[in-house]
This record gives sequence, C-alpha cells and structure tokens, in this order.
Amino acid sequence: MPEILKVGLDQRSYPIWIGEGILERIDEALDSVHFSRRIGIVCNPTVAELYLCRVQEALEKSGYSCSLIEIPDGEQFKTLETLELIYNALIRQGFDRGCGLLALGGGVTGDITGFAAATFMRGIDYVQVPTTLLAQVDSSVGGKTAVNLPLGKNLVGAFYQPRLVHIDVSTLRTLPQREFAAGLAEVAKYGIIEDADFFSWLESNSDQLVSLESEALIHAVKTSCQIKAAVVEGDERESGRRAILNYGHTFGHAVEALCGYGKVKHGEAVAIGMVVAAAISRRLGFCSQVDEQRIETLLRGLSLPVTPPDFTAECYIDAMTRDKKVVDGVHKYILNLGIGDCRIHAVDNLETLLDTVFHV
Ligand code: NAD
Ligand code: GLY
Repeated sequence: MPEILKVGLDQRSYPIWIGEGILERIDEALDSVHFSRRIGIVCNPTVAELYLCRVQEALEKSGYSCSLIEIPDGEQFKTLETLELIYNALIRQGFDRGCGLLALGGGVTGDITGFAAATFMRGIDYVQVPTTLLAQVDSSVGGKTAVNLPLGKNLVGAFYQPRLVHIDVSTLRTLPQREFAAGLAEVAKYGIIEDADFFSWLESNSDQLVSLESEALIHAVKTSCQIKAAVVEGDERESGRRAILNYGHTFGHAVEALCGYGKVKHGEAVAIGMVVAAAISRRLGFCSQVDEQRIETLLRGLSLPVTPPDFTAECYIDAMTRDKKVVDGVHKYILNLGIGDCRIHAVDNLETLLDTVFHV
C-alpha cells in the first residue's frame, strides 16, 4: 500500500503518494484528486524510454486521454525556449483551461512543467511524478517552479503548487549512481536542520540506502517529504523560515559557479557547502566538533564529496557575494545548531568565513 502524506495549504493542499512499484497506480491517485481527464505528459527521451509506457497505459486503461510533450534532456534546456515548445504543443493539441499537465522526470522536468502550468492560459492544474531522488525529496514538493535565463538559474518562475505528487521509489533503480548520491545530500540536509533522530537513522542505514533497499528508500523519502511539507506549510512563499532549506546552498552555489555549471552536481556542491556551514557553526559556537565530524562522516558514507575544490578563499567569497541571497553585503547563512536544528544567521564578517573554511 502506498503511504499518503499531505501538504496542508488550505485550498492548495495536496497528497503525496509514496511507495515501491506504484507507478501503475497513477490513475487511482489522479482519481482521488479529481484531476482533468485530458493530460499532457511532459517528459524527456531518457525518462520516456524507461517509464512513459507504464504511466500512459495505466492512465489510458482508466479512460484518461494522454499525449506526450517531449522536451530535451538537461539543465541547459530549462529555458524560455523549451517553455515555448510546451505552450505551442498545448495550443496545437487544442488544450484548454480544463486540461492538466503531468511532469514525469527529474527536477528539470518538474520545474519547467510547473511553470508552464502556472502560466498557460493563466494557470492549469499539474501533477508531479518525480523520478530522481532530488526531485522526490525536494523539487516536486513545495510549488517552486522556474526556468533559467542566460544571466542565471531559476530567475523566472512562480510559486504554484501541484495537485498531487506521486512517488515510486523503484524508479531510483535506473538512476546513475552519481545522480542518486546527489539526491542523498538533500536527504541528509533534512536530518541536519530539522530532525536529529532522522540523522541518526541515516548514520545507521546509509549502507541500506546506498544499496537501494526498498524499506530504507521509502523511509528516507517519506521522512524528507514530511519535513519539507511542514516547512512549506509554515512559510509557503519563503518570506522567512523556508530559507532553512537552503542549508549548504550558499557555499554550494559558489562551488557550482566556480567549477562551471554541470561539472559538479548540485547535490555534490551542497554536500561540500554543508560541511563548510558546519565548520562555520562550530567556529561560532553553534555546534560541537563531534557534530561537525558526524556530518562530514555521514556525507562521506553516502559517497558525497566533502572538500572544497581548490580555489582561493577570495574566489569563494566573490562568488558568494554575487549570489542573489546576499543583501547589502550581508550573507544570510543557514547554520546548524548541533544536529537537528538550525538558524538563519547574518554573517557580515567575510574574514570569519575565510578563517573557518581555509584555516588561515
Ligand atoms: P534532472 O532533472 O536533470 O535529472 C538528472 C538526469 O537523470 C537527467 O538526465 C534525467 O533525464 C535523468 N533521469 C531522471 N530520472 C531518471 C531515472 N529514474 N532513471 C534514469 N535517469 C533518470 O536533475 P535533478 O537533479 O532531478 O533536478 C535538478 C533541477 O531541480 C535543477 O534545475 C534545480 O534548479 C531544480 N530544483 C528545484 C527545486 C524546487 O524546489 N523546485 C529544488 C531543488 C532543485
Ligand atoms: N528547495 C528549496 C525550497 O523548496 O524552498
């Protein structure tokens, strides 16, 4: 039986179905939210080859009418051009405001489909069927949708909640190992910032996770979604506390920018960023050396990198200063309080960062 969680946002509330081998139950899940009978499935060729038939057959046998809207695979295609491709397909196929979209794939597909749904004919319904670990534990939940511009990532978007998130953890078995590990960084993040028991569970179960054991996968995805849902319920549009989900991301974004986008995976950069955040936390007295070491050990055990690539401290600070979260020269850093709690902390002394990260 699938586990069913709820993201509680008044009229915008929605269920998250989580289970092993539940892709074929997508019709049942859509029925439960009275979703449109006419659906455009947005998917790239990699994921279509693996999972499209199963989704389409399940839907068609229950009377849904589906058509494929194929988009190219890759972050470099999360663009206004691909968005236009989706709008054009919808118009050519006669979609109207009563139709719906289904995002089948990773975070790129989910983000762009969500933004297409938010804007096509001023808003149509959509559902998320995430097939990467990152998408299952992070991007499919919470309604952040976006495309990139040549000047930066996710610069155009909307908060627009899906009607359903449908997660089949068995899809993770076809994911390249590095993609899977990158998703584990976000899983570890939830333990560090919100849930000490979950962090301990991850310490004891990292082998089971890395070897894709079903029970471990379901527990990790479910707990991550529960934590994310609770944060989003408290601050849907990130006017405050939702920013804690960016733990590890400030330094992580600098790693991605300095290495060149695509060279280091986002989750790998976040893992390095979390180790740096833990080092700063310890230096400011927010966590012990033991906690800092536990964070680093867990991430290593999940096959994630923990050492900043070899750029000077000045390069990192420069890159972090260009990050859109820096306001008036003050870095809003998310720092862990021990393990299982965190705070948003204004860091105006860049030298502190230098000292902590590079031990100068
Ligand atoms: P992705 O969507 O590019 O997927 C990674 C690769 O895995 C792709 O090549 C994809 O085709 C392939 N793939 C997907 N599922 C597969 C499967 N089951 N088996 C084999 N291959 C599979 O990358 P991602 O890491 O899922 O998502 C990254 C995106 O998510 C970024 O654009 C980022 O900005 C966004 N994001 C959004 C949020 C949010 O809250 N909306 C949060 C975090 C990240
Ligand atoms: N991934 C961060 C957020 O959804 O707010």
